[in-house]
Amino acid sequence: MLDTIFDKIDKDIDLTREDLKFLLSMEDDSQLDQLYRKAYEVKTRNVGKLVYLRGIIEFSNICVKDCLYCGIRKSNTKAQRFMIPEEDVVTMAMWAYENDYGSIVLQSGERSDREFVDMVERIIHEIKRRSNSKLGITICLGEQSEETYQRWFNAGAHRYLLRIESSNPDLYRSLHPEDHDFEQRLNCIKILQKIGYQTGTGVLIGVPGQTIDHLINDLMLYKELDIDMIGMGPYLVHHETPLAEKAVDFNEERQLKQGLKMIACARLLLKDVNIASTTALQALHPQGRELGVMAGGNVIMPNITDVEYRKGYQLYENKPCTDENASQCRFCLQHRVESIGEKIGYGQWGDSIHYARRTKQA
Ligand code: 5AD
Ligand code: FES
Repeated sequence: MLDTIFDKIDKDIDLTREDLKFLLSMEDDSQLDQLYRKAYEVKTRNVGKLVYLRGIIEFSNICVKDCLYCGIRKSNTKAQRFMIPEEDVVTMAMWAYENDYGSIVLQSGERSDREFVDMVERIIHEIKRRSNSKLGITICLGEQSEETYQRWFNAGAHRYLLRIESSNPDLYRSLHPEDHDFEQRLNCIKILQKIGYQTGTGVLIGVPGQTIDHLINDLMLYKELDIDMIGMGPYLVHHETPLAEKAVDFNEERQLKQGLKMIACARLLLKDVNIASTTALQALHPQGRELGVMAGGNVIMPNITDVEYRKGYQLYENKPCTDENASQCRFCLQHRVESIGEKIGYGQWGDSIHYARRTKQA
């Protein structure tokens, strides 16, 4: 079966749901190695032997949402809330620029009040101005109105990450409180695409109640939405959240494997998109992100937030790199990426090749 699937890939024949089911159900380590190797080959062929960096600045953990899995949900009264001053966010972004990162991600808890929307707009403007428009800006700031998305786009952000968390409305509902709406999330993704953002999404892998069929549908949805970038990662427990009670049989090794399998399958199915090898993988294995690249990922998002704020942004427990500063992570990552025979695409935006093809066709 594996050979037949690989043969299809070589002949550029689309994988079916049955193929994905087979791949996602595999447990045998030598078969999994073959899967990762094939996905890596497809990565190399389509997006090259390069890893792009997006320095991530997690500038505030103040959040109006209450997702049942997330450590910075508004009901977690134990989280010490912080907001990094505007000027400091810009300084961190400039550090990324001076260190040739090519692009950054601005992420925070979700807020849509006027003060917040205005502030983000000013930050994006200022980063663009100070970097002569050379630093790429991705934002990951949740559900917003079309007007807000447009303002941030006009200010200079060109990529947006909004995870769908699950393509299954029932599973989505089981992970979120009543007032969070799956359809609204989906609609936001479509608005982002309409505005012209390179649009990324992703799901939580290995959440309680999730089946292989859900994961297959997640992959199919990426394809159906014609998504440009994927940021998905294994679910990790945070004990100050309601979902922790349901995650009784949580198993790190299984989460890691499931995360890697999903990256590999996404690469085999979507070929030319950007796929992040997320920090959540690193929380499960010391070489988690390298393994993610070897399974088909091509983007790493090193944390460049000042160390004094890092511990406040705990979406999940055991988050790596909370003691290392941005320079330490830079050297550490360069070494890690080179250790697997890849190079970092320093100074480049590393835009999604899929986006370029999609917009040329339109
Ligand atoms: N484990 C893994 N990922 C998480 N996220 C939030 N909480 C967790 C958790 N406990 C992810 C969500 C969100 C992204 C910013 O972080 O998918 O979209
Ligand atoms: Fe942060 Fe290695 S990437 S310490």
